[in-house]
Amino acid sequence: MRVEDPKLKAELSDLGVDIRSGACMAELTSLGIGGTTNLLRITKHESIPELILLLERHQIPYKFLGGGSNLLIGDGELPWLILQLAKPDPEIVIEGNLAHVDAAADLGRTVTFCAKHDLGGMEGLIGVPGTIGGALRMNAGAYGMQIGSYVREVKLYRAAKRSIEILRGTQISFEYRHTSFAPDDMMLAVTLELPSKSFKEILQGIRICNEKRRSSQPLGQKSAGCIFKNPPGASAGRMIDELGLKGLSVGDARVSDRHANFFVNAGQASAKDMLTLIADVRGRVENAFGVKLEHEVVVWDA
Ligand code: EPU
Repeated sequence: MRVEDPKLKAELSDLGVDIRSGACMAELTSLGIGGTTNLLRITKHESIPELILLLERHQIPYKFLGGGSNLLIGDGELPWLILQLAKPDPEIVIEGNLAHVDAAADLGRTVTFCAKHDLGGMEGLIGVPGTIGGALRMNAGAYGMQIGSYVREVKLYRAAKRSIEILRGTQISFEYRHTSFAPDDMMLAVTLELPSKSFKEILQGIRICNEKRRSSQPLGQKSAGCIFKNPPGASAGRMIDELGLKGLSVGDARVSDRHANFFVNAGQASAKDMLTLIADVRGRVENAFGVKLEHEVVVWDA
């Protein structure tokens, strides 16, 4: 999808939107998969309602990209524009036990920035790629914690109301890899309320989580983290492993040898390869265990 109309381009520019044409989604996603489209970078949250109206008036479909770390995007020329928040400066402001964080901020950097201000709780998320906005939307978690537990307030664009709103943490439901946000809501910023801990203690927790992650997950390889959610009381990775599917490949899409719920792009995998592999593994798990695995990875197929 391209923005060609000079008048529309000028209107976008007036809204503080930078246009990058021919942006390659393979370069913007941790899986390294995805075709090309125009990327619109939003520099002012306040311009979003008007931006959305403008795109709708021109009947231009769009999708909202966070950090691209839990996403499988289709191949070729994509039929929608991509919207993404530009990173503001500063991304994080600390006020006592509160961290005000822009949705575009990197998750790992947020954890360490807060740690340097003696604010902990988020140690488990160290090493999880992506942005704060993406982590918030899916209630990212690891090693017994989830980001939702620390959310005091969220600023978001509510698509249904076409306006920017502030929600209190208590108005949002945070469940395992799921939140009550609507699929077309856009996370803009969050205020986290974090427990005071010494930097030394937080660093110790971070080291332990890093070590566990390094020993069980394929960190150096292109992946979208776990492909499937864990079914209640079970582990998708263990089930796939028990079926002997580590190393199973379609083209360069491959079930990781290290953790069977991570599917890696071992070279030039296409979205089609990855989707075929996901469907194959899902079918085999269903046949063997009678369990329909639910995707954790978000699929934007073209
Ligand atoms: N296991 C296997 N073979 C494998 C993978 C796992 O036998 O190939 C076994 C492990 O030995 C362990 C059990 O399955 O006994 C659970 O494995 P692990 O501790 O790696 O946890 P997981 O349930 O596979 C979850 C999250 C991860 C998170 C870790 C640590 C999901 C889908 N995955 O993995 O999150 O990092 O716990 O808390 O909830 C993600 O969401 O993308 C993600 C990576």
